Amino acid sequence: MVKIDLKSLKLKAKKEVEKAQNLKELDLVFRSYFGPEGKIGALTKTLKKLPERKRKTLGKKINEFKEFFQEIVEKKAKEIKEKIEREIEEKEAIDITLPGKKIKAGSLHPLTLVCQKVEEIFQSMGFSIVEGPEIENEWYNFDALNIPKDHPARDLWDTFYIKSDRKPPKKTGKLLLRTHTSPVQIRFMEKNFPPFRIIAPGRVFRHEATDARHEINFYQVEGLMVDKNISVANFKAILQEFLNKFFEKNVKIRLRPSYFPFTEPSFEVDILCINCQGKGCSICSGEGWIELMGAGMVHPNVFKNVGILPSEGWQGFAFGLGLERLAMAKYRINDIRLFYSSDLRFLQQF
Ligand code: PHE
Repeated sequence: MVKIDLKSLKLKAKKEVEKAQNLKELDLVFRSYFGPEGKIGALTKTLKKLPERKRKTLGKKINEFKEFFQEIVEKKAKEIKEKIEREIEEKEAIDITLPGKKIKAGSLHPLTLVCQKVEEIFQSMGFSIVEGPEIENEWYNFDALNIPKDHPARDLWDTFYIKSDRKPPKKTGKLLLRTHTSPVQIRFMEKNFPPFRIIAPGRVFRHEATDARHEINFYQVEGLMVDKNISVANFKAILQEFLNKFFEKNVKIRLRPSYFPFTEPSFEVDILCINCQGKGCSICSGEGWIELMGAGMVHPNVFKNVGILPSEGWQGFAFGLGLERLAMAKYRINDIRLFYSSDLRFLQQF
């Protein structure tokens, strides 16, 4: 005999519907009553077997329950949907009074800035920009530049050699980290015939104890101009023009006699200290002058090594400018190590 206690069934169903947290759980409750295995489904199946009167009362009760159930489920479903919409709205809400997140903009390294400026000025004077490898061999770094094997001048450019198990080729010698940008002169002249004017910026290396003026790695800009009738006067004029443009004022320069195996005559070029105007300060280490570059007229042996004949009238000047020195003079920096310290307090000033 099938009996149904409508009151307690309604109560139970109401509790279960209330408990559902989301539409999926609500659906499960629905199925537990009206699904194929559900409580009401099973009851309905028994209806046919009942005598007429009983069938009627039970059928009525089932219908009443159905209506009740439908109502509470619809109500609950509406509630759940509204809750989801509210949550989405809250998530997407923008509080326009909150302070924004600052995007930190980076800036170019002072050496990059200086290098770009140097390139711009020399380009305006008709110079092209070329580059060469940082790992060089002895031929390009020394021999071709008129610095033979046992020449004491090699001591000036002590460097890091690259270890190799193979015997180095006789002509090109061992691999090393280039000590200056001058090998780019050779590489360029091997492939190009004068007249030309180039600059070659790049990184160079020295086996050196570091201090406020020396680093084991620094930057140079090589310059080379070859033509007929090029003299020291041309060099001075171009240099003066470059420095005036770079420092945006009239810069006083001084040429001191010096020695480089690949130039003859050779000079050291100084500028009057931009900071103290020659009185002596920490930027110029009390000297009043700042040493900026080595320079000179290209040695005939260098021309011969690349197949350019000085007898045909070709001559020219070359220089090797220290980029850090230039940056130190321009921005009044008194320690070269700051460029490589990655200290944001320093870098953020540019
Ligand atoms: N290469 C030289 C150095 O590093 C500088 C230099 C370049 C001198 C070109 C003369 C000509 O010291």
